[in-house]
Amino acid sequence: MASSSGAPVLGILGGGQLGRMTALAAIPMGVRVRFLVPKPSGSVDGLGEVTVADWTDLDVLRTFAASCSAITVESEWAPADLLVQAAPDVALWPRPETLRLIRHKGRQNQTLADAGLPLPDFELCSNLDDALAAAERFGYPVILKQYTHSYDGYGNATARTPDDLRAAWPDLAGADGLLVEAFVRFKQELTVLVARHPDGSHVTYPVAYTEQRDHRCHAVVVPADIPEATAEAARRVGLAAVEAVGGVGITAVELFETGDGRILVNELAPRPHNTGHYSIEACYASQFENHARAVLGWPLGSPDLRVAVAVMINVLGEREGVTQSNIEDALAVSGVGVHLYGKADVRPKRKMGHVTATGTDPAEVRARAERAASLITL
Ligand SMILES: Nc1ncnc2c1ncn2[C@@H]1O[C@H](COP(=O)(O)OP(=O)(O)OP(=O)(O)O)[C@@H](O)[C@H]1O
Ligand SMILES: [Mg+2]
Repeated sequence: MASSSGAPVLGILGGGQLGRMTALAAIPMGVRVRFLVPKPSGSVDGLGEVTVADWTDLDVLRTFAASCSAITVESEWAPADLLVQAAPDVALWPRPETLRLIRHKGRQNQTLADAGLPLPDFELCSNLDDALAAAERFGYPVILKQYTHSYDGYGNATARTPDDLRAAWPDLAGADGLLVEAFVRFKQELTVLVARHPDGSHVTYPVAYTEQRDHRCHAVVVPADIPEATAEAARRVGLAAVEAVGGVGITAVELFETGDGRILVNELAPRPHNTGHYSIEACYASQFENHARAVLGWPLGSPDLRVAVAVMINVLGEREGVTQSNIEDALAVSGVGVHLYGKADVRPKRKMGHVTATGTDPAEVRARAERAASLITL
């Protein structure tokens, strides 16, 4: 449904920073944005109509669907299945089947492996004995992954010995077990973002290098410093992975580059991704703009870089309390975009914002981005 002004209405299930930045990209194209959130969120205040309600209530979902032209989700955990149950004809992207596949790390790995994609050796283990046998076969250390509800490294553990595995099992195993993966001694972690239209047409963003600290994304550098052949392989694998799960909108494909130049898929995210925030300043069409375009069924924009180098640094909370942000010193650093997510409360390690620096020399751009990020106090 279009709004009273005739503008298309993009519905978003969720109200965090990804919804915020998607709205900020959609509004210039004349789009109205509506959010459905289970609890109030400062991040999307003022960006559109925000409904705070029980989003598992079918009546709530039916009313919301009736007021939107197309709907997307901010995370794989949003109630997409219920939305389709409430409003079977809703233009919801990505589809619930895609989200269901991605939500379960075992099902996700199996789907990708069945499609012939390169992954770390893995096994879906329904009991501890199977897990011990798989670890023996792969050789220690192994990575244990909870099937569902893991993020930022919560839900993963490295087992160096059978005793580690036995100790971790009760915490990580669900009713159907857990995923055991061979430990990859990767050279670096890369991400490929694919924007895919409901009709299957797509564009692929440049390969990004991503650096984690304490299991959280700290820095993203684009383009990644890899040979062209590796970049091509990463983009090919990324696109094939997204097609294997039928992703529509932005799907992020997290990859490992091994010492011998192979590309392995780590995991997918069916939405705009932290490693694509750089695209706001650095690409002709950002990941958020292309996500909105795809969900609305509009032609996709160019993902090409309009700068030589971009570096994004996350800004995390360092204390507990009410947010009191000071960004003035960071704003004084030239050639840097400063983004805060409008979260009312700060917590240690909570993602509060990010900065993106652009320029020509990777070391200089990185230093500028790090400096700007370090000047922000919250
Ligand atoms: N098989 C593996 N071998 C070596 N390291 C791994 C492996 N799987 C994951 N890791 C490391 O652990 C990190 C987190 O793993 P993964 O991406 O599966 O977890 P997550 O908690 O779902 O992710 P996110 O941090 O993206 O929310 C990876 O970015 C990588 O650094
Ligand atoms: Mg990950």
